[in-house]
Formats: sequence, C-alpha cells, structure tokens
Amino acid sequence: MPARHRAGAPRGAPSTSEGRQVGKLQAGQVRAMFDRIAGVYDPLNTVMTAGLHHRWRARAAQEAQVGPGSRVLDVATGTGDMAIELARRVAPGGEVIGSDFAEGMLDRARAKAATVGDAGVRPRFEWADAMELPYTDGSFDAATVGFGARNFDDLGRGLAEMARVVRPGGRVVVLEITNPTRPPLSLFYGLWFDRFVPVLGHLAGALGGLSARMRGGAAGSSIADAYTYLPSSVKRFPGPRALAGEMERAGLTQIHYLITAGGIVAIHAGTVPAQGA
Ligand SMILES: C[S@@+](CC[C@H](N)C(=O)[O-])C[C@H]1O[C@@H](n2cnc3c(N)ncnc32)[C@H](O)[C@@H]1O
Repeated sequence: MPARHRAGAPRGAPSTSEGRQVGKLQAGQVRAMFDRIAGVYDPLNTVMTAGLHHRWRARAAQEAQVGPGSRVLDVATGTGDMAIELARRVAPGGEVIGSDFAEGMLDRARAKAATVGDAGVRPRFEWADAMELPYTDGSFDAATVGFGARNFDDLGRGLAEMARVVRPGGRVVVLEITNPTRPPLSLFYGLWFDRFVPVLGHLAGALGGLSARMRGGAAGSSIADAYTYLPSSVKRFPGPRALAGEMERAGLTQIHYLITAGGIVAIHAGTVPAQGA
C-alpha cells in the first residue's frame, strides 16, 4: 500500500570506472550521457526494477488526472514509456507530446511508439530543453516528468516551466526514485543501489564496449559511468518533503505525494492555481 502525504547528505561520493569522483553533471554532460546509454536504457531499467517501472509510471499517469481529449506534456520523456502510457488515457481525441534534449533517447521513443498498437493517439516526440520549454503558457491539461527531474540543472526552473505550460486547474506530476529511510528496506536499497546497480552498469559497459570495439568505437566505460552516476544523483535529489516545498515555490498548490514500492519511489502531484488565486 503506498503511503500518502500532504505537503515538507549524501554519503561518500562513488567513483567512475576511471576512479573519478561522481559529482553533479552539467546539462551538456547529462545529454551526452543519455545519448550514449540510449541503447541499454530500457533493458537495464527492467533488470534494475524487476519490471516494476511500468507500474510506477501508470500510477503517476493516474495522478495527472487526464482523460479522453486531454493534451499532455511528458518532459524528459527519454525512451517514451510515460508518454505511451499517457496516450492510452487521452484517447480518443487527445494529444501527448514527449520532449527531451537527448536525440538518442528520442529516436528510441519514436521507434517504440511506432510499434505499440495504435490506440487512437500516438505520442509525438520533440526535442526540447526542460529549462526553457518551447510551449505557450497554459497550453496543456497536465505535465509529467518521470525519473528526469533529478537530472535537471535547475530543479526549481524545470518545475516552474512545467507549471507555466499547464492551464489553471491542471496538474504537474513528478515521479522519482527516493531514498527509503527505514530499515530493512534502507539497508537492502543501499546494497542494491550502491553495489548492484554500478556492477550492472559495468557488465552492460563490458558488453557495450565489446560490441562497440567490434564496430570500431568504444562505449563501455561511459555506460559503466552512467550507472555509477545514477545512485549519486538519487542521493543528491531532495527528499519527498523538500520536493513538495520546491513544487510550492514553483507556484503549484494542493501538493500531495505518495511513497510506494516499499519506500523507493515517490510520486508528487500539484495543481496550477486559478489566475489571480
Ligand atoms: C532517467 S531518464 C528518464 C526517461 C523517462 N522519463 C523514463 O521515465 O524512463 C532522464 C531523461 O531526462 C532527460 N533530461 C535531463 N535533463 C533534461 C533537460 N534539461 N531537458 C530535457 N531533457 C532532459 C535525459 O535526456 C533523459 O532522457
């Protein structure tokens, strides 16, 4: 049962395959990293979450409170799973745009959307920087971001941009991994994220490096580095209460969040206030 809430220091930084400390990456580095790992992103997501990530996105999409005819934006859409989930909910007559700044991820999203059964609405995938969304004020019924906000250069600005493009009364939804605080899950999570995920990245990196060498390139260490960066980015991200505060500062109201998956996933939702409210 997810815990519902109303809205309020990282340990030693891990190091990359070359022994460098993992710090916060600049936007250009984040984009380049996702471009490089686009090919392994979906299979590694499935292994890391035991396939549960689809369920988490479905729960987050529910919080967007959209239905047939709605127009929805999925920011930092990556390989497009959330956009595809939303498209099912807005048919018939709705529209879903998935935006991201990594073309490698967008290519996967477009290919995936072309293979899912046409339920009447197929998401459109567009290049856009979440820090400066190229959409007019109030032009969507809801905006979502799944596992992307922790990569934003400026979280407050990204949230404010999402709030800006949603009409008054519409929702902004943030789905993120969070740090469980209570044992035994916090202990298991520490092992899983600090030990297993980087090892998984190294394995995928070794396989990626092998196939890249066969093609004359070298992608292995960058895959390994990306999956060392992942746990550190989660630790740096604000906890559920602090994120609710960031959403409030971004101009949203009626903020609530639920913690699910035994405490490792947080889904926040806020409403764009009526003009003049
Ligand atoms: C961990 S992936 C999440 C992808 C997808 N939303 C999902 O649920 O699997 C993070 C995505 O955020 C994108 N991203 C990070 N910062 C961004 C920004 N400023 N503008 C657009 N996309 C961004 C990355 O390119 C990447 O595709």
